[in-house]
Amino acid sequence: MNVIAPPTPVLQVESLSISFPHPEGKGLVPLVQNVDFSIAEGEIMGLVGESGCGKSLTSLAILGLLPRPGVMSGGTIALNGLSLQSLDAESYRRLRGKAMALIPQDPLSALNPVYTIGNQLEEILTTHTDLDSSQRHLRMRELLDAVRISNPEQRLKAYPHEFSGGMRQRVLIAMALACTPKLLIADEPTTALDVTVQADILSLIQELCQDFNMATLLITHDMGVVAEICHKVAVMYAGHLVETALVEDLFASPQHPYTIGLLQSIPRPNVKQLHSIEGTPPSILSMPELGCRFIERCPQAEASLCATAEALAFRSLSPSHQHRCVKA
Ligand SMILES: Nc1ncnc2c1ncn2[C@@H]1O[C@H](COP(=O)(O)OP(=O)(O)OP(=O)(O)O)[C@@H](O)[C@H]1O
Ligand SMILES: [Mg+2]
Repeated sequence: MNVIAPPTPVLQVESLSISFPHPEGKGLVPLVQNVDFSIAEGEIMGLVGESGCGKSLTSLAILGLLPRPGVMSGGTIALNGLSLQSLDAESYRRLRGKAMALIPQDPLSALNPVYTIGNQLEEILTTHTDLDSSQRHLRMRELLDAVRISNPEQRLKAYPHEFSGGMRQRVLIAMALACTPKLLIADEPTTALDVTVQADILSLIQELCQDFNMATLLITHDMGVVAEICHKVAVMYAGHLVETALVEDLFASPQHPYTIGLLQSIPRPNVKQLHSIEGTPPSILSMPELGCRFIERCPQAEASLCATAEALAFRSLSPSHQHRCVKA
């Protein structure tokens, strides 16, 4: 019998918890709790959820850049089997930009206005590679080529203000790719851009992920984006993963009421009235201590079932489709 081994994950996150001090001094509050996922080579995983649910904190923990006074209060993060939480600050710094890279949300503020694109790209290559000056130049041309920026010679001499928003995002993608990272993290890479260029940037990320065989974590609040370019998806609500599945399975058979609410709020032709999920997520002051954090907004909630530790057990529909709803 021919057994095909599952691809080895590039990124493996297990039971990740991130806590902040309670503003009224009542100890630490886990804003992200027991989050598990993995991403393989060439795979794009969407991490979706409303504003404030902990998407960026999760990515910052992976990058070793958690803002103080936040702490990683539990779990493990491994990149190609290397445990990241044991790294010292200097080793982590070397890893960022080399083995893992971030495409930021705001392409304007991420570039330095007083240096040319060429200066900024070359600095990354000088820091992270042994290439000599002419090799660096060649590599910079290749990178602009990869992100479909024409006239590379001329473009390398230009300053950020000479580029449109979409072009600046392409430059930042080129910078992220400079050292052929294993893991690419894109945090809302298109929210600051015109709708007309959003689709181009997404399909560029999709192509590059395949060409460079990178594991990609794409953070978004937009299920439409997930449908467009992701292979699998993790749905986050108030710091808990509530459902993880392959994209086609999630759209075909969503299980958690929060996922269902998100899917119903995707704009569609012929549907005039958009569905929205009533209410707001719990704040750090009102986080339920036990059970499902969606309880206050859930049309199906039943306290005796949902406000229990048991409610958070993962239930499997298949090895790749899991959810955390007792009522599903
Ligand atoms: N530096 C900080 N100090 C205190 N709380 C923080 C800090 N950074 C984030 N938080 C809180 O952690 C929670 C998760 O924040 P995070 O930025 O991860 O959300 P997000 O899902 O990325 O949201 P968005 O879609 O708006 O970017 C929020 O409630 C936020 O207020
Ligand atoms: Mg964010």
